[in-house]
Amino acid sequence: MYDLLRSLLFRLPPEIAHDLSLGAIDLASSLNLAGTLGGVPDDPVSLWNLEFPNPVGLAAGLDKSGDHFNALGKLGFGFVEIGTVTPKPQPGNPAPRVFRLPEYEAIINRMGFNNRGVDHLVARARRRTYDGVLGINIGKNAATPVENAVDDYVIGIDRVFPYADYVAINISSPNTAGLRSLQHGDELESLLETMKERQAALADEHGKDVPLLVKIAPDLEDEEIADIAGIVTRLEIDGVIATNTTVARDAVAGHRYADQAGGLSGAPLQSASTHVIAALYAELGDDTPIIGVGGITDGDSAVEKIEAGARLVQLYTGFIYHGPALIAEAARAIASARRA
Ligand code: FNR
Repeated sequence: MYDLLRSLLFRLPPEIAHDLSLGAIDLASSLNLAGTLGGVPDDPVSLWNLEFPNPVGLAAGLDKSGDHFNALGKLGFGFVEIGTVTPKPQPGNPAPRVFRLPEYEAIINRMGFNNRGVDHLVARARRRTYDGVLGINIGKNAATPVENAVDDYVIGIDRVFPYADYVAINISSPNTAGLRSLQHGDELESLLETMKERQAALADEHGKDVPLLVKIAPDLEDEEIADIAGIVTRLEIDGVIATNTTVARDAVAGHRYADQAGGLSGAPLQSASTHVIAALYAELGDDTPIIGVGGITDGDSAVEKIEAGARLVQLYTGFIYHGPALIAEAARAIASARRA
């Protein structure tokens, strides 16, 4: 059924299709139809004192302002990550800023953190009916100079902490100038140090522990991955999300959109993202859990992430191409790989 729906949706510009689909999911949810899409096996994962009913989550960026997570949570995801949210609302980059590459089951986007701001997201989170695991992904405003990025991340964690089951620090979007420089050396260390201090202070203030994760890019050398892992371990960051979209284009060279600026996601990202997970896992072992994301389009690609060392996975582009059936397919494949 999703094939038919997709062929209609894919005739529309990507952002209109996106808004229509989320509206339909909200409607299905309010009519109590969403749960009937189910078929996702129970395959619980316990991490950070949280219970995930299955290891397949929704990646950040689909519900940036927290407007749809109550409905999205009914589709069978084991967890839902909302954001990236910034302190102030911002429009993002001018359109067109999303391009489909159906020949590759891929997307190139340069949205640039369009979102309604953290106050809006918090107002939504306060009216939460979704009782699954909710991650909140935070970023910096485009207008904030990268030297002051930490100020935005502090505003973000301070505001979302009471409502989040985990907080993800996004330093890996290719669409905010300078953001990825925060993944390196002293910049990374000092940002994460401050965030760790805030996490501890907020845990005291609110009487609850909220794990802090960092989301990284696929465009890193093994040495850089090892450096990140070293800092993550030293500062006791609770987890790593790997990966965001890639600026590489070799996998789609020659496509009419290949030269569009932005991050490439979907099937062409699968092996690069899995490589980062494996390289991270080689350094972190089982001490710091990894959430694997990037190019999951079927059961096998989901299992690959788990075999590379991820404890949980997330979907974005594959979900756009395959619909909610991919949640069940990925969860079933992971559950049977675990049993084998
Ligand atoms: C994203 N992604 C993303 N990530 C993030 O941390 N914050 C964000 O706001 C966004 N926004 C966003 C918009 C669009 C249109 C896409 C396609 C992707 C990245 C996403 O969460 C994921 O890490 C990558 O897309 C790789 O996974 P897939 O898409 O290959 O499954």
